[in-house]
Amino acid sequence: MPNEKMQTYRQMTEDYLQDCFSDETAPQKTLLSAMRYSLLAGGKRIRPVLTLEFCRLCGGDPKQALPFAAAMEMVHTYSLIHDDLPCMDNDDYRRGRLTNHKVYGEATAVLAGDALLTAAFATLASAKLDASRIAAATQILAREAGENGMVGGQILDLEGEEKQLGADEIMQIHRLKTGALIRAACCLGVAAAGGTQEQMEAAAKYAEALGLAFQLRDDILDVIGDAAKLGKATQHDEKKSTFVSLYGLDACEKMVQEQTQNALSALNTFEDTAFLRELTEQMATRDH
Ligand code: IPE
Ligand code: IPE
Ligand code: MG
Ligand code: MG
Ligand code: MG
Repeated sequence: MPNEKMQTYRQMTEDYLQDCFSDETAPQKTLLSAMRYSLLAGGKRIRPVLTLEFCRLCGGDPKQALPFAAAMEMVHTYSLIHDDLPCMDNDDYRRGRLTNHKVYGEATAVLAGDALLTAAFATLASAKLDASRIAAATQILAREAGENGMVGGQILDLEGEEKQLGADEIMQIHRLKTGALIRAACCLGVAAAGGTQEQMEAAAKYAEALGLAFQLRDDILDVIGDAAKLGKATQHDEKKSTFVSLYGLDACEKMVQEQTQNALSALNTFEDTAFLRELTEQMATRDH
């Protein structure tokens, strides 16, 4: 059952993360507490699940990829903490609770994000895997998280708030701000298993399409979603150029379907993909 597998992967991730930053006697315990507040707030864990499953698809043991999966969630959580700050999207709710800065204050939220990003690389390095696989993973995560990846996308997204963007520009922002970390998640799974170049390229192609579908769905949910289910505010992108504002909801739904099909096609290189196919389809119609 795909959902059982999803549950297993999520639980493995939760158990691993639960043990992180848990020293309550440390002098910097406020920082650790802020890190755990957002990290353990019950996100969907889609990126770790992708890492663990791509590892399995490439012949590796998902357990060995757990530090890579956890590192993905740390980087993703840091990106959310910073994304919600008043100087960025200025959001009050995330993952069903007050945003990090609302509870801990802005300075601590910035530092919690910084520390999660740094800890992610230490976590990668702690994997019980061949050094060449850890080196490959480090390169991938740094590339996809940094100025040519997620952070690069975030600045284009912020600069875009002041202008009317065209389709190519919005696509580029989606690829970077959201697609890049999804690509990292998939490629880290391949790296953990020591997969082939062909598998790495197929994983990247899959992630490219899934990333676009994922952000398109996020923008659709900003308009039609239920804030309680999403755990974050809706109607927040009203002033922003998105595919929803450019083409309307129906056209966006079609784009999500198209990108989902592209993602599914990219999986043809792999065997035993029933779980990932079902997950990919579920993401296209998700309500949170
Ligand atoms: C939200 O990501 C930010 C985007 C990139 C759209 P998720 O929808 O994966 O958020 P969580 O991890 O489940 O909270
Ligand atoms: C998120 O884009 C991309 C990140 C890198 C965090 P959004 O700003 O649309 O994400 P939400 O809607 O706040 O989750
Ligand atoms: Mg944003
Ligand atoms: Mg936001
Ligand atoms: Mg959004």
